[in-house]
Formats: sequence, structure tokens, C-alpha cells
Amino acid sequence: MDGTILTPDSRPAEDFVIGQWWERYGAAEHAIWRALFERQSALLRGRACMEFLDGLAATGAAADGIPDFERASDLLDKATGWRIAAVAGLVPDDVFFWHLANRRFPVTNWIRAPEQMDYLEEPDVFHDFFGHVPMLMNPVFADYMRAYGQGGLKALRQGALPYLARLYWYTVEFGLIRGGDGLRIYGSGIASSRAESVYCLESPEPNRIAFDLLRVMQTDYRIDDLQAVYFAIDDFQQLFDATRPDFTPYYVALRERPDLAPEAVLPSDILIP
Ligand code: PHE
Ligand code: FE
Repeated sequence: MDGTILTPDSRPAEDFVIGQWWERYGAAEHAIWRALFERQSALLRGRACMEFLDGLAATGAAADGIPDFERASDLLDKATGWRIAAVAGLVPDDVFFWHLANRRFPVTNWIRAPEQMDYLEEPDVFHDFFGHVPMLMNPVFADYMRAYGQGGLKALRQGALPYLARLYWYTVEFGLIRGGDGLRIYGSGIASSRAESVYCLESPEPNRIAFDLLRVMQTDYRIDDLQAVYFAIDDFQQLFDATRPDFTPYYVALRERPDLAPEAVLPSDILIP
């Protein structure tokens, strides 16, 4: 045991969990939620996948105001065994993975200011709740997230976090899925963004490439602009199955491969028109 990195069963000295303090939100904060909720719900109809839209409804979240984490957690717990943990903002990587490995999703408790409706540098309750919690209602995706948390702790021990972080980025945050009626959104970073929820499907600019695990883990990403590439899965079982094997040999293989720029297209890529 290396002592410095958490395991799923250990307890960190600090878990970064605070209260949501729901009753402290004012009318202006609930109004920001309402504006964001109405705007994104309208944009996501016909753009987000069924699993996301059904999941959103199942969380009990509505336009009327910032949801109560405890009430939503009770619904989530019944569906997939997950709960929401209120946090003040980004938490250290090991603590984040440890929460995921124990089926807790950290959600920021504050909401953005009115001048940040279109873009925010760090996650707030709208991104974290509206973007992430719906997919946690899906049993296969919920298991993927838990496995990701366990894999994150392992990647930290192996010094491979940058590879695994790309997988999170291109699936959990910016993933697309190919369904019966075409490409749909499931990534939270897309679902919570006005511009990206249209651009990712309708702009001719970005590349849309069929998901390939090692290809994804090889690819850099942009944190401050619309994405140059999206990776599309066929279904959530495919994602879960592809990520089931031990990644240790993958990390070894990736060290021999060059990193790819977000714009890169390889001969082996399957481009989605
Ligand atoms: N199977 C991965 C590993 O061995 C864990 C993992 C699961 C990582 C799902 C990401 C997503 O590291
Ligand atoms: Fe996020």
C-alpha cells in the first residue's frame, strides 16, 4: 500500500462535503435556475438522448427552482443507489474519485450570476445537477461512473490520470450517442450549455468520430472553447464493456503513442456524417 492515495474503502481526512442549505437560496437565485432550466429543456428536446431526458424528469427537477439535493437523492438512491453530496466547488481528484467509487456525486451548491448565463469557468449547481444527475438515473451509466471512480484512484497510483481524464471529458462531459433517430447528446458539458447543445449536432465544424477507447485517451481537449471533436458511442453498454478491462496495459501502450490534437483525424477513425 502506498498510503498517500485513497482507496474506495478508506476515509479521507477531509471529504469536502458541506450542506446544500437550500433554504438560504433567494428568489433571484431560483429565477436564474428557472431561466437556465427552461432554456436548456427546450433546446434538449430532440437533441438529448432518451436516457438523459427520462433521467431529468426522474430527478424531480423542474423550472420552479433549484432542486433540494436530499429529495433528489432519495429518488436517485431508489433508482441506482447514488446520492448527491453538496460541495463548495471542485474537490481534489482523489476525493472526487473516492466519492464516485462510493456512488456519491459531488454537486456544487451555488448558482452562477446573471451575467454568466452563457459561460462559466467552474461548475455551478446548474451544470452539476442539470448536466450530471439525469444520467445517474440510468443503471448502466451509474455503474460506469462508479467504475470510473475506482479506475481514477488506480490511475492516480499509476501516474496515468491525464489519460483517464480525457475519457471523462469525451464521455461524461462531452459525449454523443448514436441512436435510432440519429446523433443525440448525453454529455453534461453539452447539456448545460446553450451554444454547445446546438453546435455539437448542427455545426459543420467539429469532427464527430465513433468512440474508440484508446483513441479517446490519446486525444487532448479544449477547456475554454467549443470542442473540435466529439466521440459517439452506440449505447451505454458499449461504453461500459469497453472500459471494463484493467487499464494498466492500456496506459503502458499509450505512453508509446503520441498525444493527438483535438483537430486530428486518423485514417482509422470512423467519421460520422
Ligand atoms: N477498468 C478501468 C481500469 O482498470 C476502470 C474504469 C472503468 C475506468 C470505467 C474508467 C471507466 O482502470
Ligand atoms: Fe461536469
